[in-house]
Amino acid sequence: MQAEGIELHRLSHVFTTRRQSVAALDGVDLSVAAGRFVSVVGPSGCGKSTILRILAGLLVPTAGEALVRGETASGRPGLVAYMPQKDLLLPWRRALANASLGAEIAGVPTRDARRRALELFGAFGLSGFEHSWPVQLSGGMRQRLALLRTFLIPSPVMLLDEPFGALDAITRRQMQQWLQQVLARESRTVLLVTHDVEEALVLSDEVYVMSPRPGRMAARVAVPFERPRQPGLVTAPAFVALKADLLAALDAGASSGSPCEPAV
Ligand SMILES: Nc1ncnc2c1ncn2[C@@H]1O[C@H](COP(=O)(O)OP(=O)(O)O)[C@@H](O)[C@H]1O
Ligand SMILES: [Mg+2]
Repeated sequence: MQAEGIELHRLSHVFTTRRQSVAALDGVDLSVAAGRFVSVVGPSGCGKSTILRILAGLLVPTAGEALVRGETASGRPGLVAYMPQKDLLLPWRRALANASLGAEIAGVPTRDARRRALELFGAFGLSGFEHSWPVQLSGGMRQRLALLRTFLIPSPVMLLDEPFGALDAITRRQMQQWLQQVLARESRTVLLVTHDVEEALVLSDEVYVMSPRPGRMAARVAVPFERPRQPGLVTAPAFVALKADLLAALDAGASSGSPCEPAV
């Protein structure tokens, strides 16, 4: 039992609409110890975002248990810092006011939230853009702003849903390096969802591989490389071999499940 981290026990979820039932998750077990960085990889539409939405307290699972720091996550949106798949920056709030929004909603007084946001603008590569509108920022800056907003939510547990999904490959690599630096300064317990095996390996202590819908855990792989990982690691033979193992686990999962469907 990881009282300070994240635990999923036999988590299942079926979406029921008037027309049909969609089994999204089927008996998922997962655990993230305090201070660890764990990723979930799997094909599109296979329940990754559903796991995070359950842990964020936004969705009540059909069966099983989702625990954050020993407490059940159902109906408890305040337990985690959650970055949804879309950055959800508010276009009518300037960068600083967007950054502080999550903390304000969590009950931090606006002045305190904005002061803390200002302190971190530099570390997040956003110095000088405090008063810009979201539309004036590049894609990478918007993602960093959304991450900054997530960091400012006062919880040691962070859920990141494809945080670099919208970025080109070069910016994505820079952001992975940068996220490692930020986490070295501000340690958190992180559960990250991605469909990018290399990203999962670069960032994580452990990677879970999901099979297509209904999502099940097909494999769990420990990542042995010392942190922070250097950019050159991705071409090291040991890294390439582990990546091949993960891709094989994904393929094995894919052939055992039903055909994948697009996510909602
Ligand atoms: N609100 C919803 N209503 C009905 N089906 C949904 C809903 N949200 C997600 N689904 C379905 O559940 C499955 C898993 O979705 P999701 O967790 O978003 O996948 P992923 O994040 O891995 O791409 C998909 O088949 C998707 O179509
Ligand atoms: Mg998703």
